[in-house]
Amino acid sequence: MSWLPPPLPAPRQPGRYAVALVCLGNICRSPIADVVLSERVDEAGLAGHVTVASSGTGGWHVGDPMDPRAASVLLAHDYDPSLHRARQFAASWLEEHDLVLCMDARNLEDVTSVRGEDSAPDERLRLFGDFDPVTHGAEVPDPYYGGPEGFEEVLAMVERTCATIVSGLQRIPGLTGRS
Ligand code: 4NP
Repeated sequence: MSWLPPPLPAPRQPGRYAVALVCLGNICRSPIADVVLSERVDEAGLAGHVTVASSGTGGWHVGDPMDPRAASVLLAHDYDPSLHRARQFAASWLEEHDLVLCMDARNLEDVTSVRGEDSAPDERLRLFGDFDPVTHGAEVPDPYYGGPEGFEEVLAMVERTCATIVSGLQRIPGLTGRS
């Protein structure tokens, strides 16, 4: 049977959709995803309706620009990494976003523990890789301690996964002005 991505949760407010991308440091994976998804949203004509933000569960790099290796891979593929500054995830992000996508299982666990271990499952919180049309749910591997090829791998995963997410956004009535 052919693969279908999970449906996107309904917007909290009609006509607006807020996506948050979360990793550990907010200097490698989620910034790459933030830049690529923002660009795809713009190309799809959704920029006035869809916001994209990213953060890290750890606070070590708050205020820093992207890791230079992440910035290089983005520049090599014609994206602009220059505006990013690292932020730390906070519980309020769960209320402020329609969809919170974590890069790996540890990030998802950490965000889940911010919600409270006993909370009911939240359809708005899941792995970014759940929308990956190739791996169907794999983690985005942490490239921080590896070589440049790890950053290329992250970008390839991110590009194909953002295409799936944007297709989902385009199917939400009221986001394109063509509902
Ligand atoms: P990221 O990568 O979570 O993709 O931004 C990392 C960045 C920094 C650290 C670990 C992973 N660190 O240990 O400082």
